[in-house]
Amino acid sequence: MCGIIGVVGSTSTLDILLEGLARLEYRGYDSAGVALVRQGETWRARTANGTESVQALVRACAQAPTGVTTGIGHTRWATHGAPEVMNAHPHLDCSGRIAIIHNGIIENHLALKEDLLARGHTFTSVTDSEVLAHQIEELRAAGNDLINAVRLSLASVRGAFSLAVVDALEPNTIVAARRVSPLIVATTPGATYLASDIPAIFDRATSFYGVDDDQVVQLTPDGFHAVDLEGTSVQLTPLTVNFDLETAQKDGHDDFMAKEIAEQPQALRATLMDRRRGDGSFTFDEMHVSDEELKEVRRVVLVAAGTSYHAALVAKYAIEKWARLSVDVEISSEYRYRDPVIEIGTLVIGVSQSGETIDTIQACREAKLRGARVIGICNIVDASLARESDAVLYTRAGLEVSVASTKAFVAQVAVLELLALHLAQLRGTMDSAVIDDRFTELTEVADHVATVLSRSERVSLVANELRDTRDFFYLGRNVGFPTALEGALKLKELTYLHAEGYAAGELKHGPLALIEPGVVVVAVVTDPNLHEKILSNLAEVKARGASVVAIAADGDEIIDAIADYVLRVPATNPLMAPIVDIVPLQQFAYAMARGLGRNVDRPRNLAKTVTVE
Ligand code: F6R
Repeated sequence: MCGIIGVVGSTSTLDILLEGLARLEYRGYDSAGVALVRQGETWRARTANGTESVQALVRACAQAPTGVTTGIGHTRWATHGAPEVMNAHPHLDCSGRIAIIHNGIIENHLALKEDLLARGHTFTSVTDSEVLAHQIEELRAAGNDLINAVRLSLASVRGAFSLAVVDALEPNTIVAARRVSPLIVATTPGATYLASDIPAIFDRATSFYGVDDDQVVQLTPDGFHAVDLEGTSVQLTPLTVNFDLETAQKDGHDDFMAKEIAEQPQALRATLMDRRRGDGSFTFDEMHVSDEELKEVRRVVLVAAGTSYHAALVAKYAIEKWARLSVDVEISSEYRYRDPVIEIGTLVIGVSQSGETIDTIQACREAKLRGARVIGICNIVDASLARESDAVLYTRAGLEVSVASTKAFVAQVAVLELLALHLAQLRGTMDSAVIDDRFTELTEVADHVATVLSRSERVSLVANELRDTRDFFYLGRNVGFPTALEGALKLKELTYLHAEGYAAGELKHGPLALIEPGVVVVAVVTDPNLHEKILSNLAEVKARGASVVAIAADGDEIIDAIADYVLRVPATNPLMAPIVDIVPLQQFAYAMARGLGRNVDRPRNLAKTVTVE
């Protein structure tokens, strides 16, 4: 999940690296480092100051040589080796001339290291990545140029990588390579760039290209040349980049999370815009699976991780109810290794904000290998998931920077429900008038979210009163259950407090034993069809001394008699309610985290894009 960046040809190389690393901090912030090369000299700086690593690196780079036009930079999320300076990238070979940055995991690094040690190499870190520097060192010593040394070194490597290598004996060159972990290359006249993510360099270059698995790219100031592992020339895939500087900045908010929560109405409107033709049929511009193929679908499997998994859980209820299709929702890291059954007519939908989550990409690859049609739902145009799926449906939430996902979640639910209506229309499982009503309700949800946003003061007050609470249980029924799971995830990742989400009906099957005075139960009670049932569950927790925070619809007066705190939301179609109900839960987690002095954009131990298994 580390972030990588490289530049060759620019007189502002160091500034570009440092600014890019600051933008990549969301990928990992245990440590950071850069290497600059010019003829015969490799200069390196590394810091391990946690969330302050990039700022510390900026200070360390005050000593950097000036006028250097080739460099690489790295922000680390530790997998092998503690977050200490010695393990920070770039890593050097024994001569100190070759520098390497790596994102991913070299699975057979222990065996490779043993061989290298036996041949006299000295290691200065306990990372898996350093073996690459020494392997390349040997291949360079054997007379290979840098691109061939990198290419040949990868033959013996198992695992995942996006990497970049410089050598002071080839100072106008960077060699980069990819297997599984994301890597892009970009050009502008006179300079060439690489990065793990588009946001690092989106405003630097004019043309962007995706590197595919087992491709090795030589970057020079004039452009690039790519080969496969056999050394045969290959073309890189051009990418579309649709970011602008404004969306990548905080826009007057204290942090990105506040900005992204506030952007949810806009994210929903953009995601749902222009999705219907005059004749009432749905239009998915990026969807290249035909209506005929979709009519043949017999079963849907949704694969996703984290917040995207919760969005997928909501979609299960909508697709089953509206399109009458059987839906399974799978945690992507579990799906892949479970020998899954894919029958004829299985549609697999991978849901991922980044489109780079390795577990989800691998789950989709596995499904494709077994014959499934795969639709990717993601937020980043031309992300790996988008490129590898048979079809892609974009959430148009805009760049999400804060580690905790907010606007991507509501956009994912909206686009999945749109797909559910499309499937219902094709399968004839809903009257067209009812489809019209549901579509109208879906487009109105953005206004409901805006109403909830205007009530944030009340949420802050409740968070303030509950600031000393250490145990939270989130309950919901039907789609309120995934909403509860997502609310609990937001609270735990932002505050580091204990929070668990449960289906309210499950409480009496075990967790009720944990309910006692001091525990806070947060309940989603907006579904009128299940109102009585969930109120009974709340009576059970009240009887055992817990305090109750209820997310309740406007006009629900009964809840006032039971809940200690009520956070109001506009009444919404029950299947669409998660889009609205999650908002006060996001605000609550945010307010609690701020109250506890947490870094809301960069919670400890987490990274925005999870590219390791
Ligand atoms: C939580 C969060 C994570 C991500 C998960 C999947 O707030 O953001 O749980 O949802 O890592 O990421 P994507 O959606 O990029 O596949």
